[in-house]
Amino acid sequence: MRKVKTLGLLGTGVIGGGWAARALHFGIDVIAADVKPEMEEWIRGAVANAEPALARLTSAPLPPKGRLSFTTDLRVMARQADFVQENIPEQLALKQRMLAEVSRHAAADVIIASSTSGLTPTDLQRDMTAPERFCVAHPFNPVYLLPLVELVGGEKTVQATIDAAAKFFTYIGMHPLHVRREVPGHLTDRLQEALWREILHLVNDGVATTGELDESIIYGPGLRWAAMGTNLIYHLAGGESGMRHMLAQFGPCLKWPWTKLEAPELTDALIDRMVEGTQAQAAGRSIRELERLRDDYLVAIQQVLRQYNIGAGATLRSLEERLHHDAAGAPVSRPPDSGRPLRLMDTAVRAEWVDYNRHMSDFRYAQVFGDAIDAIFRRAGVDEAYRATGRMYYTVENHIKHLGEAKAGEALYVTAQVLSVDDKRVHVFQRMHRGRDDKLIATAEQMYLHVDTAAARAAPADMKVRAKLTAICSEHAALPAPPGSGRPVGGSRQGLHA
Ligand SMILES: NC(=O)c1ccc[n+]([C@@H]2O[C@H](COP(=O)([O-])OP(=O)(O)OC[C@H]3O[C@@H](n4cnc5c(N)ncnc54)[C@H](O)[C@@H]3O)[C@@H](O)[C@H]2O)c1
Repeated sequence: MRKVKTLGLLGTGVIGGGWAARALHFGIDVIAADVKPEMEEWIRGAVANAEPALARLTSAPLPPKGRLSFTTDLRVMARQADFVQENIPEQLALKQRMLAEVSRHAAADVIIASSTSGLTPTDLQRDMTAPERFCVAHPFNPVYLLPLVELVGGEKTVQATIDAAAKFFTYIGMHPLHVRREVPGHLTDRLQEALWREILHLVNDGVATTGELDESIIYGPGLRWAAMGTNLIYHLAGGESGMRHMLAQFGPCLKWPWTKLEAPELTDALIDRMVEGTQAQAAGRSIRELERLRDDYLVAIQQVLRQYNIGAGATLRSLEERLHHDAAGAPVSRPPDSGRPLRLMDTAVRAEWVDYNRHMSDFRYAQVFGDAIDAIFRRAGVDEAYRATGRMYYTVENHIKHLGEAKAGEALYVTAQVLSVDDKRVHVFQRMHRGRDDKLIATAEQMYLHVDTAAARAAPADMKVRAKLTAICSEHAALPAPPGSGRPVGGSRQGLHA
């Protein structure tokens, strides 16, 4: 299967917009096709709305963003795309017709996937040309933040399609879950629907409101579910004998049963109760406002889970490893960097980084400079594998000068000039700029010492690491000395903004 440089989207509603935002963010071009020309403005807005949360997901170095184009002609999209993702309404006959049409115009090695929530791939691929390259790739809203994508093959799908789709989705930061047998609703929507059916019954019977039922999840099971699913959690609930004890204790309840299988009839009264209940929960907040709140906590949760290398946090961690690896593999003196300080990272001030005066707190400057220096060390080969040998660089001096301010949401970038390198030490001068006007808002002059942690003392760096750092230093030798380098704390601030 071919390398995916351009993702083609068929249908640019909620889900198409989410796919576009995710792919563009991770450097994939997108050509979006929709029957309605007005969807061009909509999808551009959806991408812009997703960007603030996506920008905060990781500070690992990202490739340049992809470019978005739009067409109302499905054939143009199918001919340009290296991978097509279909996101049109959930109607079998419509999807069959449009997938068959796309398959006639896309090259035979272009994977065509469907976002269908519950239709089965054998039905969907029925009339396609080269149906072996088709699979279901079912994402979750918001597609740009939730990593799960269920991959399901039909009778005519070949394993190579599933493998190649999994590779592409992993590349854009997702967790592909291969659903080995096609069943209506795949896996997740069957589980979600079971819960929802029960909610509808409880509301219909007047047992609880939508708000009370949401409380019953968010203060309890919902917190557990972010990293351990029902099965592992119940194994823990069974004490020392785990799941066996759990089944012995609660198994009989399954016969009573506590739950109902058939959904209640959707009467006008039930629909009103559901709508009024959720409107009361929204408490006057718009959908956009609630989406921003949801996006913020989804980013924060993934960052917490990353520390434990579990669930979506493990996915984020391995994505970051790959991004760092790719950036380290990029030639050190790419044309834009050559003879200039290295541009190490682009980031944005996160809401939680600002203090009472709404500007970035001082310790966050140290954090951003620290993340940026990690990028330079990775380029020189100091990565997870190197650190696993017990060798790493320690910060031994750090002089940060504050020259300006940045507010929440503002873009920042950091450059570094390597001043000197010897067998153990690296002397660096970093500059932090505000993205909107390139204003220099802080500098950091730092000394790093290479340490052998097992011996608990300074030790020479690996020859290859040192050679790479020396090469960067030589490229920077012709640059003027940074104004203020070597300046003592409290010295004159004149000329520091240069
Ligand atoms: N909304 C969700 O939470 C969710 C989650 C996962 C998967 N899905 C699945 O994703 C798919 C799309 O759902 P959605 O919520 O984005 O729907 P939507 O109604 O928001 O968007 C559908 C888009 O398809 C366009 N369209 C209709 N016919 C077309 C055609 N013939 N050619 C090109 N474009 C066409 C429409 O103009 C519209 O912009 C469905 O299969 C749905 O089951 C939805």
